[in-house]
Amino acid sequence: MNRQRIAVVPGDGIGPEVIAAGLTVLERVNDERKLGLELVHFGWNADEYLRTGISMPPGAMDDIRDNYAAVYLGAFGDPRVPDMKHAADILLGMRFQLDLYVNYRPVKLLNDRLCPLKEKTRQQVDFVIFRENTEGAYVGMGGIFKKGTSDEIAVQEDVSTRKGVERIIRHAFEFAKATGRKSVCMSDKNNVMRFGGDLWLRTFEEVATEYPDIEHFHMFVDALTMQMVRVPEMFDVIVTNNMFGDIVTDLGAALQGGLGVAASGNIHPGRVSLFEPIHGSAPKYAGKDVANPIGAVLTAAMMLEYLGYQSEADAIEHAVVAAIDAGETTNDLGGTLGTKAAAAAIVKHLAL
Ligand code: IPM
Ligand code: MN
Repeated sequence: MNRQRIAVVPGDGIGPEVIAAGLTVLERVNDERKLGLELVHFGWNADEYLRTGISMPPGAMDDIRDNYAAVYLGAFGDPRVPDMKHAADILLGMRFQLDLYVNYRPVKLLNDRLCPLKEKTRQQVDFVIFRENTEGAYVGMGGIFKKGTSDEIAVQEDVSTRKGVERIIRHAFEFAKATGRKSVCMSDKNNVMRFGGDLWLRTFEEVATEYPDIEHFHMFVDALTMQMVRVPEMFDVIVTNNMFGDIVTDLGAALQGGLGVAASGNIHPGRVSLFEPIHGSAPKYAGKDVANPIGAVLTAAMMLEYLGYQSEADAIEHAVVAAIDAGETTNDLGGTLGTKAAAAAIVKHLAL
């Protein structure tokens, strides 16, 4: 792993615009603090896939694994590739092949006025979701039998391994311990999914005994969605499986001000890891300079935090909060700025 080199993959739709905006912030920090980060651009996206039939060239995954510290990724998805083949190859490909088992998705309200919940404040909407990122329904095991007939059968397996479940649960407890969070909530649906649920709950209880100072509790995922909306302040750290994590993190993004501001990390601690805004490629907004760059900017901050540049990451977050407080934002947050101008406002508020 090369500690300085970052692969930049803008992707499709609004991806290139928000990544360009994020890079104005990242490059400013890189220059000002002399971090020496080297940004290497890769044009893997739908255009390239449609032109060449190749989503990611042979050897690219090994190159990323061996020669980069992180991947900074925009978004994938294009109406001309309805099966999302290139997205599956690149995004899910990296998650699986680089074994990025931690999907880290903080839910942190940046300004009280952005919360869709009545009378909830920044103090009350501040928790972290850890989504298992290499197993579950995403492994693609299953099949279709008698396709197209009235006897058709489709089976989609949900896979949990002891190793996979244990390492994400342990990561959640370690994070709680390192950051002074009080509790870890494990969420699943073990009243119905008896086998996977049994493994998750047993593992959770066992790992919890190693962290006696951290409270732990279990919640069914349907109840979790309700409580995230009713009493978000009851959560510090939530850990859940791949599919439930996908669903509840969109809800989490809405609680913190919308998909436009949410960041995420796909992490294997100590190895090359991938950072992407939670939002998708939003093709209908592409090229219009309207997309909110904050998700991409906070994603850059999260990447810096992962690389050990905590004070630089904090400086970016403070600048984002200052820009929001000043109303210097895109439309979705009530401002009047375009993508580029909203990023410039954040740069202006950077105190380095
Ligand atoms: C996400 C996205 C992806 C997922 C899609 C694009 C495959 O929704 O990162 O949350 O389901 O993981
Ligand atoms: Mn999702």
